[in-house]
Amino acid sequence: MKKILITGGAGFIGSHVVRRFVTSHPDYHIFNLDALTYAGNLENLRDVENAPNYTFVKGDIVDAAFIEKLFTEHNFYGVVHLAAESHVDRSISDPMSFVMTNVVGTVNLLNSAKSAWKEDLQNHRFYHVSTDEVYGELHDPGTFFLETTKYDPRSPYSASKASSDHFVRAYHNTYKLPVVISNCSNNYGPNHFPEKLIPLMIHNIIQKKPLPVYGKGENIRDWLFVEDHARAIDVIFHDGANGETYNIGGHNEWKNIDLVMLLCSIMDKKLGREEGETAQLITYVTDRAGHDLRYAIDATKLSNELGWKPSLQFAEGLEKTVDWYLNNQEWLNNVTSGTYQKYYDGMYSER
Ligand code: NAD
Ligand code: TYD
Repeated sequence: MKKILITGGAGFIGSHVVRRFVTSHPDYHIFNLDALTYAGNLENLRDVENAPNYTFVKGDIVDAAFIEKLFTEHNFYGVVHLAAESHVDRSISDPMSFVMTNVVGTVNLLNSAKSAWKEDLQNHRFYHVSTDEVYGELHDPGTFFLETTKYDPRSPYSASKASSDHFVRAYHNTYKLPVVISNCSNNYGPNHFPEKLIPLMIHNIIQKKPLPVYGKGENIRDWLFVEDHARAIDVIFHDGANGETYNIGGHNEWKNIDLVMLLCSIMDKKLGREEGETAQLITYVTDRAGHDLRYAIDATKLSNELGWKPSLQFAEGLEKTVDWYLNNQEWLNNVTSGTYQKYYDGMYSER
């Protein structure tokens, strides 16, 4: 059985990737390495935790000795690296934790893979999961990020992800490490931590709390359903060309205020409220420092070369997402109260 190391598998996207690999690839044994920070929650994986081809390992990618030992103990065939600090607002108040996990942690994994695989590099694969935010921001409608777009990160988060991408490419060029990188647009779906726009709005709508829209709500994001991202990662891990980068996106651009209005209208219906009642909760707040105006991905390369396309229309994906949160209010309450971390008392540690 080939052993695959997935990092950050207890987080939002990672949990969907772990589920997909455990269930669609019974010939692999999946090791989920996660530090269980505030964003990591093993509740996300209850349905697969007893699968015979799944093992959870609690550990920190910043701990080089621990990572080295893990690679020595297990002869991993491949790595799918998602572990990261992922929230732009947190990166503005605490950039160093982004440098540690996103840059140092990634380099630790690269070093361990390089030394463990040195005898037969060609039989391995290091997949680095990155973001479209490394390309900076777009202004003109009709322009898109391509794989060749110049890097121009503008937040501490995107700067740390850009740096990690550069290290991955440098290890490919210098040490011939077999790598593949993808840069994806904003994801949404079940298990999304309610500090990010869509789950925060759903949570606050349920609780009838203010809906904080940054600035004038005119910033634009390109939204992709998380299971479509997990499927793209599966395709690229298996069929992506060595050393290549693939952009992943939904071709689904929304101005923040229009998205929040749509959510309000969907949830008015679901919660039996008067049409327009929830929208009254919208509150314009001080803009995020350095707020990127617009992200939009051109995913033609992935579609032409590997045949991937998004499967869900936004209306359907958003409806599924809202239903998931309404049916999983215990998950939402546990996450917002921090209760889920108490399950790991004694195991949970902060650096
Ligand atoms: P998330 O914050 O929900 O999850 C991150 C996971 O990594 C958590 O389980 C956390 O416990 C774990 N982790 C954090 N620091 C760690 C460390 N030092 N050692 C081990 N584990 C650690 O993030 P997400 O939104 O699921 O994003 C996953 C990846 O996808 C990230 O690399 C992110 O940059 C990238 N990405 C995210 C989006 C998005 O819209 N969320 C879009 C494109 C790319
Ligand atoms: P977010 O979900 O944090 O993702 P990212 O910044 O990585 O794109 O934010 C998405 C957009 O929503 C972004 O333009 C910032 C905005 N936003 C708000 O207006 N209010 C909020 O409370 C949050 C969290 C985000």
